[in-house]
Amino acid sequence: MKALVPLLSIASVASAMGEQAQNSPVLRRQSVNGAILTYQPANVSNGVGVLILPGGGYSYTSTDKEGYQPAAWLNQRGYDAWILLDYATANNSKTPLYPLPQDQALEAVKQIRAKSIVTKLGIWGFSAGGHLAATTVTNTSADLDFGILAYPVITMDPKYTHNGSRTNLIGNNPSPELQDRLSAENRVTNSTPPIFLFHTANDGTVPVQNTYLFANAMASHERPAHVLVLPDGGHGLGLALSDPVRTWTGELERFLKYSI
Ligand SMILES: *[C@@H]1O[C@H](CO)[C@@H](O)[C@H](O)[C@H]1NC(C)=O
Ligand SMILES: *[C@@H]1O[C@H](CO)[C@@H](O)[C@H](O)[C@H]1NC(C)=O
Ligand SMILES: *[C@@H]1O[C@H](CO)[C@@H](O)[C@H](O)[C@H]1NC(C)=O
Ligand SMILES: *[C@@H]1O[C@H](CO)[C@@H](O)[C@H](O)[C@H]1NC(C)=O
Repeated sequence: MKALVPLLSIASVASAMGEQAQNSPVLRRQSVNGAILTYQPANVSNGVGVLILPGGGYSYTSTDKEGYQPAAWLNQRGYDAWILLDYATANNSKTPLYPLPQDQALEAVKQIRAKSIVTKLGIWGFSAGGHLAATTVTNTSADLDFGILAYPVITMDPKYTHNGSRTNLIGNNPSPELQDRLSAENRVTNSTPPIFLFHTANDGTVPVQNTYLFANAMASHERPAHVLVLPDGGHGLGLALSDPVRTWTGELERFLKYSI
């Protein structure tokens, strides 16, 4: 199960996923509690690794824009990347999903750490993958070095949550205790590592308040947060590399250079 399996071609992985994965070759893959974890090392590693969690409302996973593309971006800068390609979502698992995605993300972190390939390990999630990243990075047993939350779902409070993500993860009628426990703004502690947050102010799918709630929790615990909110842009921008108004990865590079 933990053995590294030599690789399927990009084309066969892409067709298996039903989409194009033209941006980065998948070099190795292994199973994590039934989910696939791919390993995409940098040519010359700087010793820092990142586990990527694509979004998709806990309904599916957006593996190209929020998986292979950020992996390629990291590799070009010397970071080793892993993608948890198909963690539990409504498309592949019984709902409500909790605690399966959270268990899979923690197990992926453990398996990566066990290889001792990198000295620092962070987690980067988009949208619902941002929720999974936020719940993982705030679990002290993950012992992560940093987190990157891109237009994340943070809260499970109906006032500001993404309702589809909430229903898929904890159902329509969660206990108040479960709702609070999976609202990532309640999970920040004095040992939460440095966090980068990105959102657009008029995101029509996941309200910007999600980012502010987490940033405020970081402030309450005097933890370092690097927060970028741009005034305009829809949800699910990915890296927006070719959009001069919305590109945000320059700020992320500054975080990676000075905050981790
Ligand atoms: C399964 O994924 C597709 C996108 O790939 C999505 O449109 C659909 O809603 C998902 N199904 C469920 C049950 O969430
Ligand atoms: C890694 O090396 C290969 C072969 O030299 C090259 O084609 C590729 O562009 C390099 N990738 C990065 C991210 O530097
Ligand atoms: C952290 O992860 C462990 C499993 O390693 C789990 O038992 C525990 O409930 C998690 N803590 C929180 C706050 O979710
Ligand atoms: C989620 O649904 C509740 C009602 O159940 C509603 O008040 C709230 O505005 C919805 N949130 C979002 C982000 O759509």
